[in-house]
Amino acid sequence: MTHFGRGSPPSDHARDPYTTLRTLARQCACHLLADGRHWLITEPSSVTALVHHEALSLPAHNVFVDQSQTYLEQVVPWLRRFMSTTHVNVLQAMTARLMDQRLDQLARVDETDLIFDFAGWVPTALMCRLLGLEEADLPIVQRLVNAIQGHYDLSSSLGTADVPGAEAFLRQLVARRIKAPSNEEAAPLLEGLLELWRRYPSLTIESLVDTCTKLLTAGTATVTGALGNLLDDLFQGQESPNPEDLMAAVATPLDQIRTCETVVRLHTPVLVLKRDVHLAFNWDGHRFETGQRLLLVVPTVVAGPRRLLHALAKDTASQADEPNETASIRKNLAFGYGDHYCLGAPLARLQISQVLQRAPRLLAKWRRDGETIWRPAWLLHEPLHLPLISTETPSCN
Ligand code: HEM
Repeated sequence: MTHFGRGSPPSDHARDPYTTLRTLARQCACHLLADGRHWLITEPSSVTALVHHEALSLPAHNVFVDQSQTYLEQVVPWLRRFMSTTHVNVLQAMTARLMDQRLDQLARVDETDLIFDFAGWVPTALMCRLLGLEEADLPIVQRLVNAIQGHYDLSSSLGTADVPGAEAFLRQLVARRIKAPSNEEAAPLLEGLLELWRRYPSLTIESLVDTCTKLLTAGTATVTGALGNLLDDLFQGQESPNPEDLMAAVATPLDQIRTCETVVRLHTPVLVLKRDVHLAFNWDGHRFETGQRLLLVVPTVVAGPRRLLHALAKDTASQADEPNETASIRKNLAFGYGDHYCLGAPLARLQISQVLQRAPRLLAKWRRDGETIWRPAWLLHEPLHLPLISTETPSCN
């Protein structure tokens, strides 16, 4: 099934989406897909302008269900504070503990699929811990989130019957957990939310369940993709990076922010931001009709792929010319921009920088054992499998 019509990407699109999107961008800045419903917008200044156009809104499944004033003024800012400042030490310690625990487990085996065993495991385990979900539920959560992530793609809008079931299952899991007694150390995110819900009686239990479920899915699927793309970059055979360069890239907190922005910009798992047309309007000689959906291509995707270390060297050199650090980060768009700027960006950066800090250990123990298998997707760019074999086994000598 061809979604893109003329200029349709080839079957290895998911492996190298950038080349194809560049080709589409050259053909036309606004490309109506073959289904007559989706527009692919590739021109960066249009993308930046359309992200906040008043005739457009985010698809319902991308936003929290509760849009009440109390929710927007109390809950959303609280969540942003939780991720960035309030709990930074707790989150750092928790992430480090989980990653080290996982690497210790992997140290005892000779082969691994680093996506399922690490890139997917770490963010899922972290979010389960923050929300107080049982460790025994972790594998099923990881599989369900992976299925839901696929739903973001065009190829699944034709209907993957199991996804609504997956969402319902996660909601039930969360609802059960909310009823169980807990303490802050066990589940700091859930306990903080419960406290807010006690303070503001107008907030409903459905909205609490929705909040936790959205955090569970948004907070794990995207980080899994970002870590997977980073690990694929690190394990590029002969060109494996020097561990010392990687450590230098995350030496100070500012280096960490810059490096993580570079990682997400280069290897973003989410290639487009989606916007629904709720009021028809004209744009750049085209008419966007009510009910159509715009796929706004993240500008750096069109710019083309690069290896991390090459990009870091270039970015460090150009940063001297960049007077406004925040502006440069926002231009990235891999975390969105403005009102809907990614709420979990600090948590994602934390996990990326901690993986980079552990890269020497990963690179010392493992080498590639086959090609990366990419998600067969149009709008997502992320590995599903990265097979590695231990360098310490006799068979490798
Ligand atoms: C590398 C990892 C991540 C990437 C690439 C990413 C990407 C994005 C993007 C592009 C948006 C804007 C969507 C739009 O404007 O249409 C967004 C919003 C959002 N992200 Fe992330 N995200 C990541 C990690 C996380 C994490 C860890 C969490 C939760 C803990 C999270 C929760 C959210 C939420 C709740 C929103 C909606 C914010 C709002 O509408 O107010 N994300 N993310």
